[in-house]
Amino acid sequence: MALLALLLSSLLAVSLAEISSKIGINYGRQGDNLPSPYQSIEIMKSMNAGRVKLYDSDPEILKLFSGTNIDMAIMVPNKDIVLISSSQTAAEQWVRNNVLAYPNTNIRFVLVGNEVLSYVSKQDQTIWGHLVPAMRRIKNSLSANDIKNIKIGTPLAMDILQSTFPPSDGTFRSDISDTVMAPLLKFLNGSKSFFFLDVYPYFPWSANPMNISLDFALFGGNVNHTDPGSGLVYTNLLDEMLDSVTFAMEKLGYPNIRLAIAETGWPTAGDVDQVGANIYNAATYNRNLIRKMTAKPPLGTPARPGLVIPTFIFSLYEENQKTGPGTERHWGLLHSNGRAIYDIDLTGKRLVPDYKPLPPAQNNVPYKGKVWCEVAPGANLMNLSSALTYACSQDTQTCAALSPGKECYEPISVFWHSSYAFSSYWAKFRSQGATCNFNGLARQTTVNPSRGRCKFPSVTL
Ligand SMILES: *[C@@H]1O[C@H](CO)[C@@H](O)[C@H](O)[C@H]1NC(C)=O
Ligand SMILES: *[C@@H]1O[C@H](CO)[C@@H](O)[C@H](O)[C@H]1NC(C)=O
Ligand SMILES: *[C@@H]1O[C@H](CO)[C@@H](O)[C@H](O)[C@H]1NC(C)=O
Ligand SMILES: *[C@@H]1O[C@H](CO)[C@@H](O)[C@H](O)[C@H]1NC(C)=O
Repeated sequence: MALLALLLSSLLAVSLAEISSKIGINYGRQGDNLPSPYQSIEIMKSMNAGRVKLYDSDPEILKLFSGTNIDMAIMVPNKDIVLISSSQTAAEQWVRNNVLAYPNTNIRFVLVGNEVLSYVSKQDQTIWGHLVPAMRRIKNSLSANDIKNIKIGTPLAMDILQSTFPPSDGTFRSDISDTVMAPLLKFLNGSKSFFFLDVYPYFPWSANPMNISLDFALFGGNVNHTDPGSGLVYTNLLDEMLDSVTFAMEKLGYPNIRLAIAETGWPTAGDVDQVGANIYNAATYNRNLIRKMTAKPPLGTPARPGLVIPTFIFSLYEENQKTGPGTERHWGLLHSNGRAIYDIDLTGKRLVPDYKPLPPAQNNVPYKGKVWCEVAPGANLMNLSSALTYACSQDTQTCAALSPGKECYEPISVFWHSSYAFSSYWAKFRSQGATCNFNGLARQTTVNPSRGRCKFPSVTL
């Protein structure tokens, strides 16, 4: 009996040791100004990336990674999930074209879909029931081809939880708990795979910067929280978020599924109305994250100490074609030209105090005052005309001041009219979720663009 226990524990030790703590990078490519795949891979090698995650299975990129020792995570796009779930032949074909075709590329993870359970439109919800069956079919195809060293997962965002705080209260949303999460956990447990999470302490902190300490979000070590439910002591927000998922899994009867971080990071810049997005915080977050995730022996989390958590940082580059608030285009470790925004050692060997000093953070306290939305420098005239038409077509009032003879009609220029229209539109519809972006044609400003009689509507923060 004792011998068996010893044997089991050494087997367990081997299987735990098999996953290394090397740091991964998300290679997002939503930019029209990025280095080529060849150059990008040279850059990632020089950065000592241990793993690279793609949002697809791009053939050129997978070929270029062949012969490198970088572990790859590739993705089945959301649009292919329904087909693959309903046909083993489709799964076989996907595996043949996207895995078997690259025998010398270290594909180690196949991720089925991206944040599938976050989408709320009726149409997208039809995928939910297909997610786990598609994962099973991919797994079966890999097994049929005698491939044992690839794990199947699906990256989910924190909105799969209906309760996150304190971590011991972690619970999955009731609309997915029995229907999707239970079968998903069964699959992950049975295949000894990982629960992949997109987890950003930036979001809860920036939504509530007066109540959550920035030091706690950046692994500063000067603040501790005790979870009253479990008695566990938390030294950082990331651990709390991870353990809220650990506890949610435990409630469904799966206490031992390993966590992996499919995405985490901190933005280097953002809009005026976005707090704490700056180089100082981004560098501090990512450097401390790497030290934590590469620590030997592994740290794990308070609820699951001692475990390696495979981690992919988001993202390699600034991506100028992403839509949404300003931060969306500023998660990069590198500028779009491939230059580092700040020094970062992905091996985790460099101590955090040994880096060069960073530019001081300017926006760690929420901005208070008026903000306007104006045309961004370099905006293209044709694109601006259609954005102007769009902004003015939402109702009859937004652009009333631009009519001939009205106070903002002159100077008659697309740039001037667009700036007015953007400010007016944003001031009116921000509370309903409108952003000051217009496909990158607009930006927020704290300098009042009004001239003479023409007063631009503003947003007061
Ligand atoms: C999870 O997997 C472990 C070991 O692989 C097994 O012992 C356990 O019964 C599984 N749990 C469930 C709820 O299926
Ligand atoms: C912050 O905490 C205070 C009291 O601790 C509470 O009244 C307030 O609602 C909290 N703010 C937010 C945004 O949750
Ligand atoms: C926070 O908790 C850790 C781990 O329990 C402990 O080592 C550290 O001294 C505590 N820090 C503070 C500021 O209380
Ligand atoms: C902007 O204009 C260019 C050329 O004029 C066009 O190719 C591009 O699709 C436009 N972009 C948007 C977002 O409308």
